[in-house]
Amino acid sequence: MIITIDGPAGAGKSTVAQLLAARLDGMVLDTGAIYRCLALQARQRGVSPADIDGLVEMASHLDVRFETISGQVQPVVLLDGQPVGDAIRTPEVSQDASVLSAHAPVRAVLLDLQRRLGHSADVVVAEGRDMGTVVFRNAGAKFFLVADPVERARRRFDELTARGRSVTIEDVLAEQQERDNRDSQRAVAPLQPAPDAVMVDSTALTPDQVVERMFEQVQRTMED
Ligand code: DC
Repeated sequence: MIITIDGPAGAGKSTVAQLLAARLDGMVLDTGAIYRCLALQARQRGVSPADIDGLVEMASHLDVRFETISGQVQPVVLLDGQPVGDAIRTPEVSQDASVLSAHAPVRAVLLDLQRRLGHSADVVVAEGRDMGTVVFRNAGAKFFLVADPVERARRRFDELTARGRSVTIEDVLAEQQERDNRDSQRAVAPLQPAPDAVMVDSTALTPDQVVERMFEQVQRTMED
C-alpha cells in the first residue's frame, strides 16, 4: 500500500511521514531527498542547476538509497553508497533542488527511480510535492499537509539553529516564500493537492495529532 503526503516546505511532511510509517510498520520515501542529492552532486561536479542536459545525464546515473536503521525513525540517505547527512539540507542545496526540479526532463528521469523505490516495501509513505498527483496517482490514501507560512518558517528556523546554523527568521521566511512560489508555479508537476487528497492543516496540531488523523483515515480506507 502506498500513502502519499504532499505539501509545501516546512509543513511537517518528513516528521509526520516517519511517524506514520513507524506506526504502519512501513518505509518512508523522502522524494525531496532525491532532488536534494541531485543538487548536491551537481554542486560537487560544477554542473549548474540551469544545465538541463548535464542534470539529465547525472540524474540517469543517480545512485540514491534509503537505509533504515533499527530503532531509528529517520532513514539514512545514501548517495553513491555514502551517507549524505546534513549536506543535502543546507539553504543553498534547498534552493538548487527547487530550481532543478522545475525542469521537466529532469523530473521524467527521476520518476522511474521514485516508482522503483516506492515499490520496494509492502507499506510505503511517500512524501514530496507531486506524490498524489503524478508519481503515485493510484495511492491507497493521499494527504495534503499545509501550515501557516510564519509557523512553517519558525519550525525551520528552530531546526536550523538546533543544528548550529546562524540564520535569521526573516531570511528563512524569504527563502521559504521563494521556494513556495517556484514549486507551486512551475509548469510541470506543480505543488497542488490531488483532487482525492485529504487536506490537513498542521498549524495548531502536534505531529502526533496529525499522525493520529492520518492513521484513522488510512484505517478507514483499508476497511472500504
Ligand atoms: O521536500 P524538500 O524540501 O526536501 O524538497 C526539496 C525540493 O525538491 C523542493 O523545493 C522541490 C523539489 N521536490 C519536487 O519538486 N518534487 C518532489 N516530489 C519533492 C521535492
